[in-house]
Amino acid sequence: MKFFADTAEIADIRDLADTGLLDGVTTNPSLIHKSGRNFLEVIREIAAIVDGPVSAEVVATHHADMMREAEVLKKLGDNICIKLPLTLDGLKTCKALTAQGIQTNVTLCFSANQALLAAKAGATYISPFVGRLDDMGQDGIELIDDIRTIYDNYDFKTQILVASVRHPIHVLQAAKIGADVATMPPAVIKALANHALTDKGLATFLSDWQKTGQSIL
Ligand code: E4P
Repeated sequence: MKFFADTAEIADIRDLADTGLLDGVTTNPSLIHKSGRNFLEVIREIAAIVDGPVSAEVVATHHADMMREAEVLKKLGDNICIKLPLTLDGLKTCKALTAQGIQTNVTLCFSANQALLAAKAGATYISPFVGRLDDMGQDGIELIDDIRTIYDNYDFKTQILVASVRHPIHVLQAAKIGADVATMPPAVIKALANHALTDKGLATFLSDWQKTGQSIL
């Protein structure tokens, strides 16, 4: 399972990239707003730090304008993945960009039928938002399960990129289903490494080691 960081914060991206655990980055207009940075500049910077795909989202709502924006965004790095909303215009743009060999991430997916359309449009990634579904009392993870079944039934190559991930349980559930990617805030990626017994065990080992009076170096 690949891990993408869902952020436009350069310091966090560098930090995670240094661990070797980061496979890509996703951004959206809200994350760009939060960063306070210029969109094109920050995407160019992220694309230079990360080897894997960096999703940059169009803000146009009509196909022709989406194509024009994609033209600008794809020049920001060899690893740019064009993020498109799950609308008919977004799907049409997805199909056209796929035909040009450009990576696409179809976002704002909230139903299995939407995911089916994205796969038919040749999307590289589909982004179902689990947290936002949970927020309104629906089961976000059930959607991931449905999409996995449908994609496997037809051998679709579109990768399931679980988005709107809020906590480590989402990651565990998505991994058990066989989702291809999870994109999450840096804090959630880091939280995956935490366990109280790890901290307690390490403290005991270090204290006992000190008592031996030895050193390795
Ligand atoms: C992913 O591509 C989305 O931008 C993101 O995961 C949305 O998460 P949120 O629901 O926490 O805003």
